[in-house]
Amino acid sequence: MIEEILKLKKEKKVIILAHNYQIPEIQDIADFVGDSLELAKKASEIKDAKIIVFCGVKFMAETAKILSPEKKVLLPDLDAGCPLADMAKYQDVLEMKNKYPDAWIVSYVNTNADVKSITDVCCTSANAEKVVRNVPVKRIIFLPDKNLCWYVKQKVPEKEIICWEGYCFVHRKFNVDELKKAREKYPTAEIIVHPECDPDVQKLADGIYSTSGMIKRAKESNSKIFIIGTEEGLLHRLKKENPDKEFYSLGTGKICPNMKKITIEKLYQSLKEEKYEINLSYDIIEKAKKSLERMLEYI
Ligand code: 13P
Ligand code: SF4
Repeated sequence: MIEEILKLKKEKKVIILAHNYQIPEIQDIADFVGDSLELAKKASEIKDAKIIVFCGVKFMAETAKILSPEKKVLLPDLDAGCPLADMAKYQDVLEMKNKYPDAWIVSYVNTNADVKSITDVCCTSANAEKVVRNVPVKRIIFLPDKNLCWYVKQKVPEKEIICWEGYCFVHRKFNVDELKKAREKYPTAEIIVHPECDPDVQKLADGIYSTSGMIKRAKESNSKIFIIGTEEGLLHRLKKENPDKEFYSLGTGKICPNMKKITIEKLYQSLKEEKYEINLSYDIIEKAKKSLERMLEYI
């Protein structure tokens, strides 16, 4: 199947983008693996491909379509959604916008395309602090992740930030008990966690990073052992790129079932039958694009 995928990829001028949480086989066959910011940037830069197959969750494939509307964007499984993104509904965001007309809506890229269309500027976990600092007004409505919002509030106290009440059920499973046990077991280890983790976990960690921030940190740090507080798919890249270092999941490994819906077989079917195509209206694309382009300008 892998041979067939490579053949179809060449014939049809396809580029395969994969998120850091994808299964190892998908990461290894992809043209580019990254965090949501890197993948968004990549999608905006691709010139020599007709089709983008996005191995990730739906909001990421939508982001690729918004930034590269002339290309056919495929998601190998349409059920690969993000429950966090679904926690900010268009009507509720619109109501909030009307309640605070002086505020800017800053949306984490983990939002659906319709919400991006009424967003002033997007951000990812890799640039949230920078984006919020650059917003030209004092009051901000930050959505949908309340833990990333908490993190940004600590970093940018000069802004008045209203946090949406969403959360990622995967990152919420990391807890203080696990962290304390990991410290006892590996006293020399560096514990790094994603900002979608609860504030109590963030406070006890040695560092807080996006997934690619963790990749960078693992390369640059002198530590030899790392405890990773994010979805366990990231361990594949960490181990592959740092064979002289050790990586363990914080507590029991945490899995995002949506990220794992993309398999080699589904990728093959996706390439062969050109499914499932992401279709967004011209109006949504034009409006949502402004919030993503503004993010890329701010960083
Ligand atoms: P990153 O932007 O760090 O890749 O995170 C995306 C995500 O979905 C985290 O759960
Ligand atoms: Fe969404 Fe959480 Fe899965 Fe990331 S890990 S895609 S935020 S459900």
